[in-house]
Amino acid sequence: MSVTVRVPAKVNVQLAVGGARPDGFHDLANVFLAVGLYDEVTATEADELRVTCAGPGADQVPLDRTNLAARAALALAERHGLDAAVHLHIAKDIPVAGGMAGGSADAAGALVACDELWGLNTSRDELLAICAELGSDVPFSLVGGAALGTGRGEQLRPLEVGGTFHWVFAVADGGLSTPAVYREFDRLTEGTEVPEPVASQELLDALAKGDATALATAVSNDLQPAALSLFPTLADTLATGRTAGALAALVSGSGPTTAFLARDAESAKTVAGALLASATCRAVRVTDAPAPGATVVPVAQAQ
Ligand code: C5P
Repeated sequence: MSVTVRVPAKVNVQLAVGGARPDGFHDLANVFLAVGLYDEVTATEADELRVTCAGPGADQVPLDRTNLAARAALALAERHGLDAAVHLHIAKDIPVAGGMAGGSADAAGALVACDELWGLNTSRDELLAICAELGSDVPFSLVGGAALGTGRGEQLRPLEVGGTFHWVFAVADGGLSTPAVYREFDRLTEGTEVPEPVASQELLDALAKGDATALATAVSNDLQPAALSLFPTLADTLATGRTAGALAALVSGSGPTTAFLARDAESAKTVAGALLASATCRAVRVTDAPAPGATVVPVAQAQ
């Protein structure tokens, strides 16, 4: 028997970062928006824990017990006193090491898939608690939609979204490590007073209204200077998208994927075409938001 779960990528429409905490993490006001790019995680009964991965960038995904999906299966099995005897197959479509929570998506997907496969009916709250232990972005991958994450990003408040937003993502040629980007943030802000991270009310209002123009003026990412410092050519990609008519251009999370908010589906196509032609990125994806969180794929549709 197998269970397949589909999990979305995310973009941070606001990522306000506070100073480093004693535990090394940073307090955040993190406005997550799930977008329609998905990984699929299939859990199948097996003699022992095994992870396979296929799709773009699959060669960069670790297949041992450091894989977040494997860690999710182990954490769930441990809670229930089970052996994590499962084959997890990840069909990757979310850019790897791209700042779009691909690894977190796989963890949330594995958790939901194993819970269903093993017939555990773990409560939503308990699943969210396991997600938070696995990583700061994992709870959001489970819930999807839009949410404000505080603490290190794992304490979620769902947000209302009043319409569809059109996005273009430029996948960079290379990856960035999230801890390295936070370290660069610390270096760049050293000796300065880093303000408390606070969610922007204009941004929350723009999301609730489904107003792309208002959202474009309110988006922000405090990790962007750090990502640009480590990956300077991203500035060319951002400029290309802006010139092609994107309402807003920003680095997605810790990067190096860049995100472009378009006025409508037509404009998104124009921005995507200009990015592709510019050769400032490796691939371009056009998609909508918000997207639902981790969802079991009905058997007839699962590949
Ligand atoms: O929680 P997660 O494993 O996704 O975090 C990866 C790394 O990103 C952490 O080890 C830390 O370096 C950095 N991070 C941070 N503050 C956060 C979230 C992540 O410094 N709120």
